[in-house]
Amino acid sequence: MSPHVPVMLNEVMDIFMSRVPLDAGAFFIDATLGGGGHSRAVLEKYRGMRLVGFDQDESAREIARERLAEFGDRVRIVGENFIEMFESLEDSERDEGACAALFDLGVSNMQLTTPERGFSYQSDGPLDMRMNASGSSLRAWDILRDCDERELTRIFRDYGEERNAFTIARAITRSRTTGNLPATGAELTALIRRTLPAPMQRKMGTHPARRVFQALRIAVNSELDVIPEGLMGAYESVRGGGAIIVISYHSLEDRIVKRTFRHWTEEGYGRTLTRKPVIPSEKERESNRSSRSAKLRAFVIDDMKRAIRA
Ligand SMILES: C[S@@+](CC[C@H](N)C(=O)[O-])C[C@H]1O[C@@H](n2cnc3c(N)ncnc32)[C@H](O)[C@@H]1O
Repeated sequence: MSPHVPVMLNEVMDIFMSRVPLDAGAFFIDATLGGGGHSRAVLEKYRGMRLVGFDQDESAREIARERLAEFGDRVRIVGENFIEMFESLEDSERDEGACAALFDLGVSNMQLTTPERGFSYQSDGPLDMRMNASGSSLRAWDILRDCDERELTRIFRDYGEERNAFTIARAITRSRTTGNLPATGAELTALIRRTLPAPMQRKMGTHPARRVFQALRIAVNSELDVIPEGLMGAYESVRGGGAIIVISYHSLEDRIVKRTFRHWTEEGYGRTLTRKPVIPSEKERESNRSSRSAKLRAFVIDDMKRAIRA
């Protein structure tokens, strides 16, 4: 398992420095703790700041707990999906409101490089891909085994933007009938490589299995469905004048964030700080491959915060 390097840390810290109301004893929310990289930097820089951190992955919470142990009772780690954010705050935290909420969406490098988790097309782990392995029973392999050709096509197309969705879905359903349904990441990658003509694979400009793996991961963890609810929870949890910062890693996530912030701006709930998404510097893209597709958007809630739910 390789450690996770926080993405766009300087850009996140810039927003904290310039846009976040940092009163003594304020707290911030990390909706996706992962290895706790972003949180650690904020806690180190702002000595009076407290953190309420979420991650639906038990092993991520354990690692973050260890990495943030030195901050003692300034840190409270909650074992929830971020859609539970507002409900998981204590009464006093809800009354006070966080000064900021940060979402660094997707998977961590720790998850990607643990073969047994099955997230990576480069490792030979079982096709699991659950972030919350104790709370959910649906694995990527169940999808490959149970969904019909039409549903598999929809998943690969809608969640992976895979142009060859139907061809790959057909190859998977056929592999069932011959008893060769892929059970590991390497087997699924091999099936995709066998199915797509070599010139097409060369033209794809990315690993031929990348989009299918992304699609399965999104389906297993309902990753797109939780974003609107998570953002709404963040709006409710952050106080007037506070910021919501989101780093996304593919256009499907970014589109949801962009539309939500645009809608909130139109409704007068606050304003978008980033008319265009901020992207990592060339130096960061070169030194940290995981940052290459990152896009950061931020929204500042109006000082006179209004209720967002009817
Ligand atoms: C990219 S990593 C975060 C890395 C972190 N910012 C750092 O610097 O170490 C994303 C994390 O978010 C978690 N996650 C993804 N979706 C989630 C959700 N809906 N609720 C809670 N945690 C989630 C994943 O389990 C993963 O650990």
